[in-house]
Amino acid sequence: MIQLRLAPASQTLAELEPGRTFDFVFIDADKEGYDGYYEQVLPRVVRGGLIVFDNMLSHGRVVDPQNDRDRALDALNRKLARDSRVESVLLPIADGLNFCRKK
Ligand SMILES: C[S@@+](CC[C@H](N)C(=O)[O-])C[C@H]1O[C@@H](n2cnc3c(N)ncnc32)[C@H](O)[C@@H]1O
Repeated sequence: MIQLRLAPASQTLAELEPGRTFDFVFIDADKEGYDGYYEQVLPRVVRGGLIVFDNMLSHGRVVDPQNDRDRALDALNRKLARDSRVESVLLPIADGLNFCRKK
């Protein structure tokens, strides 16, 4: 079943019903919001579940961030690499996909 919830993502996540869990999450909204969406959704991801972030290379600019968007993605890549709650890998395909598997 697919449910469309059209609202700011932080609001949608905050309003999820208690006990709702996810096997798979794809994050592809405003880049400055990614870290917040990650923290909101991670408690609801099942053990072994996957969170995938799009655009994590920001067209290569994460190696030399040019703006707040690039800095946010660079900071999140660094955070995920050290985050003991997940195993993560940044794949250099398309615009960069970061795959995080919850431990
Ligand atoms: C790159 S598109 C996503 C494309 C989608 N993943 C797909 O494959 O069709 C980004 C989307 O995020 C939405 N968006 C941007 N900021 C948002 C926010 N704060 N909350 C919810 N959606 C947001 C935009 O309206 C846009 O539809």
